[in-house]
Amino acid sequence: MAHISASVYTSHVPAIGATIDLGKTTEPYWRPVFAGYDYSRQWFKDHTPDVIFMVYNDHATAFSLDLIPTFAIGTGAEFAVADEGFGPRPVPTVIGHPELASHIAHSVIQQDFDLTIVNKMPVDHGLTVPLSLVCGQPTRADFHWPCPVIPFAVNVVQYPVPSGQRCFQLGQAIRRAVESYDQNLKVQIWGTGGMSHQLQGARAGLINRQWDNAWLDQLIADPAATARTPHIDYVREAGSEGIELVMWLIARGAMADVAGGPKPKVKHRFYHVPASNTAVGHLILENT
Ligand code: DHB
Ligand code: FE
Repeated sequence: MAHISASVYTSHVPAIGATIDLGKTTEPYWRPVFAGYDYSRQWFKDHTPDVIFMVYNDHATAFSLDLIPTFAIGTGAEFAVADEGFGPRPVPTVIGHPELASHIAHSVIQQDFDLTIVNKMPVDHGLTVPLSLVCGQPTRADFHWPCPVIPFAVNVVQYPVPSGQRCFQLGQAIRRAVESYDQNLKVQIWGTGGMSHQLQGARAGLINRQWDNAWLDQLIADPAATARTPHIDYVREAGSEGIELVMWLIARGAMADVAGGPKPKVKHRFYHVPASNTAVGHLILENT
């Protein structure tokens, strides 16, 4: 049977992608950001899964106001790297896992979650920046990501967006789906986006270190309580784009302890301000 071995959580900032792509990760502003991922890159090499189930958000790249799926699962064989205005990032095409993705779609829809099934979509910085940060940037000589990735896009851009509670329950359904797949696959689930940031309006630039860190403490220790955090708290405390954090609750809901198993091991925790307009948060939790 397939199983979820670990969950990885990280912010996604377009400027982080540009910094990697332009070879500027050792510049003084950026060095502390990337230092927070040194452990993670080694950990990922030592624990490369068969598949990453990547919960991320599209930023009006593949979708627009024409079409706004709340939850969209990528069942295609591959996903092109999006052009977000400066040409596509120089990173490999994302290879999917159509068989597992289709199984998860079937199982999760049967568990009463409505998913949009997507066979073709370009993936933006929301997906590729976390991959570059944690897997390392693929070199020209070895130009592929280390494993297939199932993209799972969540609408956190256009209201109404899904609640933390719904995301947490969806994570539990995804775990059941993975565990009912009859091949022995090691699956990591990643939750991305956040932490506090606001890109627009009178409070643009808002960062809330105290709230972010308390939220991380609770996400680790008592995710069911975190799931009850209402939208308005995210927006008020973590800024309009802080709502991206509900995606972390999908990954956290898929961990074993939520279904009565043992607590996960905290393998790594990192927090840094600033990276562009964003507070960067990062966690690695392993099922034991
Ligand atoms: C920034 C952060 C984001 O999450 C995003 O999607 C775009 C920009 C930023 O900090 O600049
Ligand atoms: Fe974003």
